[in-house]
Amino acid sequence: MRIAVASDHAGFEGPEPLYKPAIVAHLRALGHEVVDCGPATPDPVDYPDMAERVCRALLCGEADLGILLCGTGIGMSIAANRYPGIRAAACTTEDMARLSREHNNANILCLGRRTLPLEQCLALADLWLATPFSGGERHRRRVDKLG
Ligand code: RB5
Repeated sequence: MRIAVASDHAGFEGPEPLYKPAIVAHLRALGHEVVDCGPATPDPVDYPDMAERVCRALLCGEADLGILLCGTGIGMSIAANRYPGIRAAACTTEDMARLSREHNNANILCLGRRTLPLEQCLALADLWLATPFSGGERHRRRVDKLG
C-alpha cells in the first residue's frame, strides 16, 4: 500500500526512538511504499502545512492512505478534515482505529506523540491499515453525505 506520512516537530521529540522515523521505518519493513511528506529534522513546523502535504498526496492519487503525527493527533485531524474528500481520524484505542475504517472509511490516521507510547502508535497503524471499510449500505450512505 502507498502511505503518505508526515508529522510536525512533535514527531522528532526525544527520547529516542523518535516517532516519525520509527513509524516510517516500521511501515517500510512491512512492505508498504511510504510517501514521506516530511519533515526530516526536529526544526519547528506548523501542523496545518504538514497535514496539507499528506492531504494533497491522497487527493492527487499519489498515496492510498495517510498517517499524520503531532503532539496529540488533534491539530492534524482538524487541519486535514478541512480538505473535501479527506476523512481524518485521531485515534487512541484499537476500537477507534478499527471503527474509523469500518464505519467512517477514514483515509488518514492521526496519532499523538505526547499522548501515546510508540508501540501503541505502531499497533494502531497496523490495525488501521489492515481494516477495510465495511461497505455496509448505512455506512456508505453516511460517508457519502460528508462530501
Ligand atoms: C506542537 O507543539 C503541538 O501544538 C502540535 O504538535 C499538536 O499537538 C497540535 O495539535
